[in-house]
Amino acid sequence: MADSSSPPPAAQAASPVTPINLILLALFVFLVYLRLKPAKPQVLPRAPPPTVFRTFTPPELFPYNGLNGMPVYLAVRGRIFDVTSGRNFYGPSGPYANFAGRDASRGLACGSFDEDMLTKDLDGPLDDLKDLNAEQMEALQGWEERFLEKYLVVGKLVPVGSDEAKAAAAQQ
Ligand code: HEM
Repeated sequence: MADSSSPPPAAQAASPVTPINLILLALFVFLVYLRLKPAKPQVLPRAPPPTVFRTFTPPELFPYNGLNGMPVYLAVRGRIFDVTSGRNFYGPSGPYANFAGRDASRGLACGSFDEDMLTKDLDGPLDDLKDLNAEQMEALQGWEERFLEKYLVVGKLVPVGSDEAKAAAAQQ
């Protein structure tokens, strides 16, 4: 004989607490959790040190030759370019490593990376290039334009003892 106190079979089937509903509920809660859980704080890549335009005397430029983790700079007609991205050319053991940390103007103008193209006395006056001919100056300008397109200008080359060098030293 049927128990008159128990619900009819249809009402039993309609109960919301079924294993499948429990699984669905758990899944729902998990998805909500995934959506709401705080995102991991984003670690931004470390920014490169800011490039500050400054004046360099030839001895100050000299260490910028890519050795000891230094960037590679070179000067062309008073402008100093950061050529670190061209490390293969100018970095240690690159074909144009002689230009690194130096005034490369004469070498570029004359199409030579020989040692004697470089200003010997770093404490002396800058190379005024006055003895170069029109063709050499044109070649130099071509290189300069290429460098301006490719590299960042990070400073100005000034002779040791010049007013600009003294002013820069006073600011430091
Ligand atoms: C043996 C002769 C030479 C060969 C075979 C040679 C070869 C090259 C090559 C393949 C490049 C790369 C070009 C590019 O991908 O943009 C280059 C760039 C360059 N070469 Fe030469 N080169 C020679 C002589 C010279 C000389 C005598 C100088 C001296 C001024 C010189 C100065 C440069 C410079 C400044 C760059 C540009 C690097 C840059 O983009 O920063 N090359 N050379």
